[in-house]
Amino acid sequence: MAYRGEKPACLLVCSSHPKGVSAQSFIHAFTLTSSTFNIYLATPDGKTIDFVDVNEGNRQWLAEFKSKPISKPHLLENMDGTQFLALVIPSCPGALYDLASSPFMAGILKTFMAEKSSKWGEVHVVVDSHVVTGQNEQSTLTAVQNLILISNASALIAGEDIHAQFDPEEYFGMYRQGFSAYAPGLPEFFLKQFHTAFSSLSSGSLSVLDYGSGPSILGAISAAPVAKEIVLSDFVENNRIAVEKWLAGDSKAFDWTSYFKYVINDLEGLGSEKVKEREELIRNKVKAVVACDVNKHPPIEEEYCREYDVVMCCLVLQCATQSKAEFEAGMKRLATLVKPGGLFLFVGVIRTAEVGFYVVANKRFRSYGVSHEMAKETMEKAGFSDIKQESIPAKNDDKSVQAYFFMQGKKM
Ligand SMILES: C[S@@+](CC[C@H](N)C(=O)[O-])C[C@H]1O[C@@H](n2cnc3c(N)ncnc32)[C@H](O)[C@@H]1O
Repeated sequence: MAYRGEKPACLLVCSSHPKGVSAQSFIHAFTLTSSTFNIYLATPDGKTIDFVDVNEGNRQWLAEFKSKPISKPHLLENMDGTQFLALVIPSCPGALYDLASSPFMAGILKTFMAEKSSKWGEVHVVVDSHVVTGQNEQSTLTAVQNLILISNASALIAGEDIHAQFDPEEYFGMYRQGFSAYAPGLPEFFLKQFHTAFSSLSSGSLSVLDYGSGPSILGAISAAPVAKEIVLSDFVENNRIAVEKWLAGDSKAFDWTSYFKYVINDLEGLGSEKVKEREELIRNKVKAVVACDVNKHPPIEEEYCREYDVVMCCLVLQCATQSKAEFEAGMKRLATLVKPGGLFLFVGVIRTAEVGFYVVANKRFRSYGVSHEMAKETMEKAGFSDIKQESIPAKNDDKSVQAYFFMQGKKM
């Protein structure tokens, strides 16, 4: 194999199996390495590459690439590893079916391990997203971190899987521990915000919706005295069943007494005898516990899809969405449930990364990361004004979560 020009040679090996090569990974591998190296593309039998995950963003690049002579692969079987300074294998779903069992691929890798280790010491090959091979000491850390990041992202529970995986009994564990692993005092923080918001509303005739109440009735504690009717809602049927159990006074239902006491004694300055009274008030005011899905239209059961005086949504929207577009669309759907002039109470998490997660009994649920600014802008775009905001810092040991916020806005 003769070098072309001054640049060192890089062997870019791809699968030629119909399961293909990731278009985006190939484009990254090719464009980044071609500035430093002369690229030699090779596949088993020299067969043309089947690109997968082709989309509007990469179609044109691939069409131009395919029109160039460099796109015609060399025979992997003819490649002599000693002639190349670098070896790159982009993400290839097809690799498991040909490269992984190819003796020629093995030969090239062996050459790289033996020949290059003294010169570069940098053999790091990701054969497929969850298989990392050939890394040396220097690259092990990055490779394994990448592997963990990839597997973390793919193992996070999201979307329809939440139905089966979100277990109210496990979630109650978080309330038993006061969310201490996340931000000590988190439930007290949002209960205090709800208390302040509802105390400013004097009417006893308000309609209130807790959107995504989960298995909890906490939002209703401060809402009940000013509400005429309260609707609770959640995506997960088992959560709705847990709420119904509490409403029915089932002795096996979760015991919220300590949180009732916090609101009634500490925030409202009333005696503990009022706790039972408030529980009864909530049982009278809650008119329905209904299904909801913020990613669908209507976002709540048809009969309850109307405008409410107050809508609260606590730690839900980020758990239900996975992108800015979904987050914004979800917020707009929530806004349709608030009357003009009505109040929207929104609790969420400020994260440093877009992909985050929260853990319930060792299960990791995906949570979309937003900044303060983005949360506020999204509320404004959805039609809320007079936005006020409070936050508490997250516990320091989770660097990806900065704070928990409470925002309230008025529907224009
Ligand atoms: C962290 S829990 C919060 C529950 C409750 N609001 C609280 O503060 O404890 C997240 C909630 O989001 C709900 N959820 C997940 N996906 C959803 C979706 N697509 N639409 C509406 N709610 C969803 C879950 O069922 C779960 O109850």
